[in-house]
Amino acid sequence: MKKIILIPGDGIGPEIVAAARRILDKAAAKQKISFEFAEKYAGGAALDKFGLPLPADTIAACAEADATLLGAVGGPKWDNAPPELRAEKAILGLRKEMGLYINLRPIRVQPALAGNSPLKEENVAGADLLIVRELTGGIYFGKRREAFVDEETIERAWDIGEYSAPEIERVVRYAMRAALSRKKKVTSVDKSNVLASSRLWKKIAARTALDFPEVRLENMYVDNCAMQLILTPKAFDVIVTSNLFGDILSDEAAVITGSIGMLPSASVGQGPGLFEPIHGSAPDIAGLGIANPLGAILSAAMLLRFSLREEAAAAAIEGAVDKVLAMGYRTADIYGAGFTKVTTEEMGALVEKELA
Ligand code: IPM
Ligand code: MG
Repeated sequence: MKKIILIPGDGIGPEIVAAARRILDKAAAKQKISFEFAEKYAGGAALDKFGLPLPADTIAACAEADATLLGAVGGPKWDNAPPELRAEKAILGLRKEMGLYINLRPIRVQPALAGNSPLKEENVAGADLLIVRELTGGIYFGKRREAFVDEETIERAWDIGEYSAPEIERVVRYAMRAALSRKKKVTSVDKSNVLASSRLWKKIAARTALDFPEVRLENMYVDNCAMQLILTPKAFDVIVTSNLFGDILSDEAAVITGSIGMLPSASVGQGPGLFEPIHGSAPDIAGLGIANPLGAILSAAMLLRFSLREEAAAAAIEGAVDKVLAMGYRTADIYGAGFTKVTTEEMGALVEKELA
């Protein structure tokens, strides 16, 4: 019996998590795994109910479970909450509390969707990269001071971006290992021409790479990387980078696939893994039943792969998603003339049927 925590969260979160849950049930039936699900509150939903974004009960449940699947958190309703009560604190808190220091964002241009990319189809078709983002350090978790008025009556605020060698090494090591079963290339992204923490990053990356002679290590400044992702996305294999740079580059990489609604992510490290689609809570379309559930469904596949070691079940889900897309079914976000438009629920049902 595997225990899975579901955190529907806010906006479209509940709709896409419901779709992913059905797929998990189907996969379980096929592979003879049994799941016990429990739903927990986080984000705006938790703020409304308990007055705080990440109840202790949610953290405890996730820490005890085998894995957690999260929809999305946040929305305009809670945007004016004080910094310590922001809905985003839920995700940051879960990552930190569970020691999930590695975030994996596989960015694959689905052959059937290459035409949706804002870039030229021939430049993106076949692109397949993995962003390995450091997730519990750097400027996200450094000391900070909210806006204050200094002695000269000027308003200020600051955030410290600090890294230690062990924090860098464990994530670079993970990226190197991941590259071994891919194209054996790691691009370490930093801003070492300016930042001290980046100079340490680059040094530790080089040192760690010595243990992986088969893998080619390349260093790239983050500004150049932002440009190269647009110019030659196919030149990348594994990108490893800091928390902040990874946040920014993964949105950029995601959008070149033409379908941010489809991309999954996994956060792993010490505690049980946390799986969530890359996209946000999309409050503008919440409740309409038109959100793309494939990001959540593919996150469920990652959950099976990374937390439950059920590779066959994971691959079956991914194969089913590819098939449904190849058959021409599209949710509104990826719809175009000549395709069949479907709702969130219909898309989930199609994947479920393909799995059977
Ligand atoms: C992400 C998100 C989060 C982040 C937010 C919601 C705190 O943008 O997972 O990329 O900045 O890490
Ligand atoms: Mg982000």
